[in-house]
Amino acid sequence: MSALITTPTGPTPAGPVGRLLRSRLVAALTTPHGVDRYLERFNPMWAAHEVRARVVSVHRETAGRDTAPVATITLEPTSTWRGHRAGQHVLVGVELPGSARRLTRAFSISSAASVPGEQITLTVRANDDGQVSKYLVREAQPGTIVHLSQAQGEFTLDESPATPTSNHLLFITGGSGITPAMSMVRTLLRDGYDGKAGRKVTFLHYARSPEDQIFADELAAIAEADNDVTVHLRHGDQVFNELELRRLVPDFRHTDTWLCGPAGLVDLVRDAYTGPDGELSPRLRMEFFKPAVARAAQPGEAVEGEVSFTRSGTTVAADGASLLEQAEAAGLSPEYGCRMGICFTCTRTKTSGTTRNVLTGEESSLPDEEIRICVTSAAGDCHVDL
Ligand SMILES: Cc1cc2nc3c(=O)[nH]c(=O)nc-3n(C[C@H](O)[C@H](O)[C@H](O)COP(=O)(O)OP(=O)(O)OC[C@H]3O[C@@H](n4cnc5c(N)ncnc54)[C@H](O)[C@@H]3O)c2cc1C
Ligand code: FES
Repeated sequence: MSALITTPTGPTPAGPVGRLLRSRLVAALTTPHGVDRYLERFNPMWAAHEVRARVVSVHRETAGRDTAPVATITLEPTSTWRGHRAGQHVLVGVELPGSARRLTRAFSISSAASVPGEQITLTVRANDDGQVSKYLVREAQPGTIVHLSQAQGEFTLDESPATPTSNHLLFITGGSGITPAMSMVRTLLRDGYDGKAGRKVTFLHYARSPEDQIFADELAAIAEADNDVTVHLRHGDQVFNELELRRLVPDFRHTDTWLCGPAGLVDLVRDAYTGPDGELSPRLRMEFFKPAVARAAQPGEAVEGEVSFTRSGTTVAADGASLLEQAEAAGLSPEYGCRMGICFTCTRTKTSGTTRNVLTGEESSLPDEEIRICVTSAAGDCHVDL
């Protein structure tokens, strides 16, 4: 999977030239557009600060007869890529044909942990109602350029592969939630994971049907190999149940577990990891691809006040929904990425008024405050620069 970055005219110049391109002098000379805008014109794979990537290949994982198709997209990042830890995600920005606007969405990296200069893969389900995932799966081609953030997120293997322990590791995933776990298992296998050291890995995955199974061949090969990784694939009616998990991993509540999948699966697994004392086991780590439904106002709790989106001259009554939802309901189209507070794409300035963070419940009346409108609601009159 690893390859040196090469482009028709070579990678971004390194050494003194690279340092010069990243210098304050060059930044000042290229204001207001920035050096990357100029480099991009010469060669889209040249960058001094930002990260871009060229699509190397698009491999169809599932045909998607009953569900949306899934594809693995191999990307060659610019030399500005700093690598990733297994389980992290990246924000992907694309400019769709005919649109001047860049759309940004989060996708986990499905390939093993990377270092600068290596290729990475994303494995994406083409969401029928979505835009970016459909574009990546159905339209992106070798040579297509996309924008990337550096890797982010803490849903990672927090042990170093260099210091293997004998801990049992458990991955429970559903649908496209398999991607970060696959990155972790691939990393363990690549970096000399040694079953003989006594470490067991259990991979329990739920898919709608065998036809919808992502990475089917590779999982079968991992299951066949003599490596102490046990793979359990469940399809169709074989939904998660605690008794089965107890049979597979009797001590699951005390086993390091990584969980990623649709809300229904996450709820069931969470219940199983909640002890008789009502405490959720600290050994369970979770990643969400979709926001947990969060509304600022509790049922029956009225929100009074008006939200003014000052740039567009639109004013609406505050209703407890996030400012992103309120703006969209008013016909505005603010930029967003994850809709769950992790990517900062939707950040806007609240110039005045009181808002509430819908995740923490915290209220703030600070003027000129940067807020993520996907996880912020009005708690009274407020003005947002939108
Ligand atoms: C950390 C993280 C990692 C992820 N990793 C992966 C991965 O590895 N593979 C993968 O396939 N997906 C992954 N996702 C999910 C992916 O980011 C989303 O499915 C994303 O929405 C796809 O973008 P899109 O442009 O195709 O769809 P979007 O345009 O964002 O639409 C997605 C859904 O949101 C709804 N929606 C769109 N606009 C609105 C609106 N105005 N109001 C209400 N609802 C709306 C749509 O109906 C649609 O159902 C990940 C998400 C996160 C947060
Ligand atoms: S859309 Fe990602 S933080 Fe708001």
